[in-house]
Amino acid sequence: MISVMNMLSALFSVATLSQLVAASPVQYGCPTQNDVLQLPPSQSQLYVPPGEKPSHIVLGLGVQNYTCSPTTGLYVSAGARAALYDISCQYGTPAFATITQDAFVQFNDEDFNLDSPPTAGLVGSYYFTTTESGISPEWDFFSYSSGSSGFPSFVIGSEVGRIPAPTGFPQDIDWVQWTNIDGGLARTMFQVQTKSGQPPAYCPAGSPDISVKYAAQYWLF
Ligand SMILES: *[C@@H]1O[C@H](CO)[C@@H](O)[C@H](O)[C@H]1NC(C)=O
Repeated sequence: MISVMNMLSALFSVATLSQLVAASPVQYGCPTQNDVLQLPPSQSQLYVPPGEKPSHIVLGLGVQNYTCSPTTGLYVSAGARAALYDISCQYGTPAFATITQDAFVQFNDEDFNLDSPPTAGLVGSYYFTTTESGISPEWDFFSYSSGSSGFPSFVIGSEVGRIPAPTGFPQDIDWVQWTNIDGGLARTMFQVQTKSGQPPAYCPAGSPDISVKYAAQYWLF
């Protein structure tokens, strides 16, 4: 079986890594300005604000966290954490159509330590941070920080739209749109092409917190 590390290494060759270092601070890997985010028709929750262009396309591999509500017996979202991999150079290739699913299958089969994820193609992390409104998602492109550009390397988002995954699979988490409330990395962020991540339907009272593996694409504009 191909390990997730080998798969990521194949997707993100060593040449790609050195290209990343040489790339402009705004666009990582390959230019994304003309790439098109596919959103389902017949919905008004998710839309690209006029004039905004994609600046980053990344694959998130990680966990969605849940707490068991003792009153409802349902799992409640408690944030998430993921490693982010640049997939801008895979856009437009045949592999792109199934990249999230393929990566998830490998990732789901293996121990994957979020404290030390495979480094080929790794550009940052996704996690939740405490804000005035509770906890908010943050995309932290730490790989930028070592550059000399001083380009702001993170963005924190506030949710502006959400739809159930259009795959129709109930185990896939929602597609979501956020707008920037802090940081200079992007103005608008999307979670799309989600695979898995939903909790079990019910939890017996007193159940411990759980983390459910998922994969998704994050498109930053
Ligand atoms: C989610 O759980 C993982 C461990 O499974 C942990 O590393 C991470 O900090 C948690 N994130 C949040 C926002 O609770």
